[in-house]
Amino acid sequence: MKLADTGLTVQELKAKASKYIIETYERFDFLADSAKGVYMYDEKGDPYLDFYAGIAVNSVGNCNEKVVAAVQKQAETIMQSFNYPYTVPQALLAEKICTTIGMDKIFYQNSGTEANEAMIKMARKYGVEKYGPNKYNIVTAEKSFHGRTFGAMSATGQPDNACQIGFGDMTPGFTYAPYNDLEAFKNACTENTIAIMIEPVQGEGGVNPATVEFMTGLRKFCDENGILLLLDEVQTGWCRTGAIMSYMNYGVKPDIVSMAKAMGGGMPIAAICATEEVSKAFTPGSHGTTFGGHPVCCAASLAAIEEMLDKGLAGNAKKMGAYFSEKLKALPHVKEVRGQGLLIGVEFDGLNSVEIKHKCFDRKLLITAIGSNVIRMVPPLIITEKDCDKAYEIIKSAVEEAAAE
Ligand SMILES: Cc1ncc(COP(=O)(O)O)c(C=O)c1O
Repeated sequence: MKLADTGLTVQELKAKASKYIIETYERFDFLADSAKGVYMYDEKGDPYLDFYAGIAVNSVGNCNEKVVAAVQKQAETIMQSFNYPYTVPQALLAEKICTTIGMDKIFYQNSGTEANEAMIKMARKYGVEKYGPNKYNIVTAEKSFHGRTFGAMSATGQPDNACQIGFGDMTPGFTYAPYNDLEAFKNACTENTIAIMIEPVQGEGGVNPATVEFMTGLRKFCDENGILLLLDEVQTGWCRTGAIMSYMNYGVKPDIVSMAKAMGGGMPIAAICATEEVSKAFTPGSHGTTFGGHPVCCAASLAAIEEMLDKGLAGNAKKMGAYFSEKLKALPHVKEVRGQGLLIGVEFDGLNSVEIKHKCFDRKLLITAIGSNVIRMVPPLIITEKDCDKAYEIIKSAVEEAAAE
């Protein structure tokens, strides 16, 4: 549905949203009326270069034709069945994902936080059943972000962040250690630790990639101590980091991995994949979901994943990520450019990243800011050098204006 279909003015529509929607977002003053490829369009048809892609979701481009066709076809065939019967898209997607990323089993969820809940629950149940009632603690990273439901929130190592303040006690069973500090992670583990859980690149924590030593060191330590390695690939998964899954950049494999965002090509779907042994912790009744594995979302996901693989989008993410990152280093007032593939953060010295984000918006480039000094770019993975050049010129002009104020 577009604004023109409603007979409303843009002001009238915004007034309705403000009156009725509980607001927890700092919105752009922008009506996303339609989208295609690397652009979103407002109600006047003005294009905005989309370098946040629904926050790392629209990796195959906005309204990708194959995803749209898969959604339309499946919506006309069967929409929702709960998980009692088998459905075609669920089974085909399960095979596609497990064989593509080298995992044994999948469990479908609807969002990143839910996938992380499932990952935490599976690890805890595995620990308690295999080793005894106290073996359910999980060590996670400071500055991590795992979602907004209680398990995922409690795994999130950001006690001073608005996402944790004012909600009372967090769920017990989590300990936190500084990211990329292998010794600290080892020291944080006790006899009751069943798992270590990290993001291969911290996204919301400021775009911090794991070092090779940290990731491979954690895998080794986990193997030697009967501890599970849980990777949250909600943001990094499905080609964003220059590999199909970020863990492939490190040559390690997790015991459980969570995924969401890009896997649906714009539709809400998430999952965990686990080894055969760990997956056995989930038995009938121990976990479930009404919508997880929704046929329309599974059909969209299958089309999106096939598109990513057919078009070699991991390779493009690697190439464009290197090209764009190198350019961004030439911006004035840059302290550091960091990331992996097309998950890129730019930290500024003395400039406010929220202001830069807004100045980019004024110039019709959509990006996000993390905290007060980092901007994050997670564009569709189909971008070209030309798109990067255009984005760079806009960011440069925004930074120059911010520096002059
Ligand atoms: C690493 C990571 N985990 C979990 C989540 C939560 O995902 P969702 O918003 O789909 O619940 C996010 C969202 O940004 C994320 O980046």
